[in-house]
Amino acid sequence: MALDEQGSDDSAVVNELNSILEMDITGFSGHPIASMSTIPHHLGAEVFSRTMERNAGRLHSFKSSAIVEQEVIEMIADLLHLDIPYGTTSSGGTESNILAMLAMRESKKKIKKPEIIAPKTVHSSIDKAAWILGIKLVKTGIDRQFKANTRLIEKRISENTVGIIATAGTTYLGQIDPIDEIGLIAKQNRIPLHIDAAFGGFVIPFLYDLGLGHHPFDFEIKGVTSISIDGHKMGLAPIPSGCLIFRSVRHLNAITRKVPYLRGASSKQSSLLGTRPAGSILATWAIMKHLGRSGYREMVRGCMKRTQLGKDRVDENPLLELVIDPVMNILAIESREVPLNVIVLKMEKRGWRMVTSPLPHSLRLVIMPHVTTGAMNAFFNDLDEVSTTVPAD
Ligand SMILES: Cc1ncc(COP(=O)(O)O)c(C=O)c1O
Repeated sequence: MALDEQGSDDSAVVNELNSILEMDITGFSGHPIASMSTIPHHLGAEVFSRTMERNAGRLHSFKSSAIVEQEVIEMIADLLHLDIPYGTTSSGGTESNILAMLAMRESKKKIKKPEIIAPKTVHSSIDKAAWILGIKLVKTGIDRQFKANTRLIEKRISENTVGIIATAGTTYLGQIDPIDEIGLIAKQNRIPLHIDAAFGGFVIPFLYDLGLGHHPFDFEIKGVTSISIDGHKMGLAPIPSGCLIFRSVRHLNAITRKVPYLRGASSKQSSLLGTRPAGSILATWAIMKHLGRSGYREMVRGCMKRTQLGKDRVDENPLLELVIDPVMNILAIESREVPLNVIVLKMEKRGWRMVTSPLPHSLRLVIMPHVTTGAMNAFFNDLDEVSTTVPAD
């Protein structure tokens, strides 16, 4: 498309854009059933739209953003059982994971051929980070519940190991690795342990409060040295909102670089990005202050209730099966009769946007706050029909 010599007026542009935007199925339809992001909380959306020009890469100008960023880090760390945190906000789980792995590599600089051990269920951003950072990723096996096998991790520790990674809320299944066991191994061997809680960080603490499971995963476990957690997933924040928290200032220093042409708080940066939106940090702050623990707890309660509805619907259909009992608000469904690719095509024809996971091959549903009970029932009514070869009456 060429850039027109003369621009069009506002309404013409907006009309054209609106017709393009119609292609999307947003959270407002209650529809998308396989996405880890959701409709941002209305307060966050309002703050974000009012503060779009603020640049967290220039904290000497936007002093309020520096204060608010620190408070976001502190509130998140408090949720993750850490009193004195060191960290940075980020553009999301990918950036946080890259930075966490950079900190591992940099804090063990003497190791010339760095290796990081991670179970094969880690998010693809870990592979991407290893690729960017020139780190060898040593992938380890999992058990029948798709959790990391601690013994296999221990076996792969070598003089080149600079870190171990585990996940609290895997992308495909929402599974939680045995982080207490892995933490012990990491501590005994003096190896940093990063936890990718990009999805689970805003869920697991509230599962405990709701009596839906006790899964130690955070800084309560002595061996855990860093955690990534995303506001723009279950934190209800507008994109981009991620956070990386370190237990030790040494690890934060390892990813901090001087920026000679900027002053004050901006003269050192710990993020990958230079210019970055302060609006989403301010929005995350506003949402966290507004919702408090009880607000997030109620959100998780609702998601888990609708997840249970989904589980019941799968259990009622003899041709469908869950890969694991849901630990959090993710369902992975296998089909006994109709191949998954056929199910996906038929469901897409009915207007659903479908996603499958490769490990194991299954339909992936993420029951985010925007997924209503009505949408769940409509989805499973359709899924019941397409998952059998027997035609409906
Ligand atoms: C466990 C986990 N980590 C990291 C990421 C990457 O997050 P982002 O897409 O915000 O970079 C995801 C995304 O789904 C994830 O599920």
